[in-house]
Amino acid sequence: MPHLLDWHGLDDSIWKQQLDAALLHHRAGTTWSHAARGKSIALMFFNPSLRTRTSMELAATQLGAHATTLVAGQGTWSFAWDEGVVMDGAEAEHINEAVGVLSRYYDALGVRVFASMTDYEKDRSEQLLHTFAQAADVPVINLESAFHHPCQALADAATLKTHFGDDLSGKRLVLAWTHHPKALPMAVPNSALLMASRLGMDVTVARPDSYALDPGVMAQATSYAAAHGASVVEMDDLDAACDGADVIYAKAWGGPMVYTDPDQEAQIRQQATDWRITADRMARTQNGVFMHCLPVRRNVVVDDAVLDGPQALHLLQSEFRLHAQKAILEYAWDLCTPANARNGHALNGHALVSALA
Ligand code: CP
Repeated sequence: MPHLLDWHGLDDSIWKQQLDAALLHHRAGTTWSHAARGKSIALMFFNPSLRTRTSMELAATQLGAHATTLVAGQGTWSFAWDEGVVMDGAEAEHINEAVGVLSRYYDALGVRVFASMTDYEKDRSEQLLHTFAQAADVPVINLESAFHHPCQALADAATLKTHFGDDLSGKRLVLAWTHHPKALPMAVPNSALLMASRLGMDVTVARPDSYALDPGVMAQATSYAAAHGASVVEMDDLDAACDGADVIYAKAWGGPMVYTDPDQEAQIRQQATDWRITADRMARTQNGVFMHCLPVRRNVVVDDAVLDGPQALHLLQSEFRLHAQKAILEYAWDLCTPANARNGHALNGHALVSALA
C-alpha cells in the first residue's frame, strides 16, 4: 500500500506534481473536486495541532470529502503499540485493530505521532509511523512524525515559489536554530532542509555546535543541492549566516544531545538566548523574508518587530497549509482508487447507486 510518509521516499515527478497542485489550489481557490466526492479520511492525532488539523479538515470539506478527527486517548480508547504486548494495563485497544477498523471505514488515514525524544533510533527509523502505516489497508498521510512533516514542507515550498517565482536557484535559505524553553523534535527542520535543497536553493544550517541534524538527512539534502549545483553548509554564527540571505527559516530543535545527555542539553539551550531572530539580524539579509511553521514563541524565537513587520511570511505559510492539504488529499484519493475492492466490494458506492438506478 503506497503512503505519503515523507517526500524524499517519492519520485521527483510526484513532488513537482504536488507542488504544482498546491500552487493551482492557491490560484484557483478550488472548492470542489470530482476526485474527492464521496471520499473520507480519518485524522488520528497523538499530539496537539492547530494548523494541520484545521487545514486538513477544511480542505476535505471544501473539496467535497469528509474528515473525522480523532484525538488518541481523548474520546478514543488508549492504544497499545508493541507487538506481543500483554494488554493488562491502561491501554484498551491495540493500534493494529484501531487502524484495521478505520481502514474498513475510510479511504485514507492521517496520523500525527511525534518523536519520543528519548530513543534516537526509534525516532530516526520512524518506528511508530511505520507501525501505523503497516497496519493500514488504505493510504496513510504523515501529519508530522518523529523526523518528518511533509504537509508543512509542501506548503513551505509553495510559499517560496509564490514569493520568489518559479526559479529558486541562487536564493539562499538560512535554517536558523533558535533558543526555546523546551527541547523540540527535528521533524520541521529536517523537512525544511530537504524541501529547500530539493528546490535548488543554497542552504545554510546555522546552529550551535551541539545541535547537528541527523547525518542521513544532511546527506540527502546535500545530494538534492548537488543535483542543482547548489550547496548545503553549516555555520555556528547566526549573524554571519544572516548576511545577504534571502530567507531566514527559524526553528528550535533539541538535537542529538537530548537523547544522550538531556541535562547538559538543557543547560546549553538555556544559555543560548541570543539565538533569536531580531530586526537587526533581518537587516543583515538581502531584503530577506522570515519564515516559521508556527506555533512560535514571540520574543524567544523571534522578536515582535520581525513577526509584525513586512518581512514576515509566516501567515502566508499557514495559508498555504490549506492549499497544500488539498493537493495531498487528491494524491491520497488517487492512491486509494484500487482499494475500492478491498472489502470484497465489486462496486464502489457511486457505481452501486447507478447500478440500482
Ligand atoms: N505547523 C504545524 O504543523 O502547526 P500545528 O502543530 O498547529 O499543526
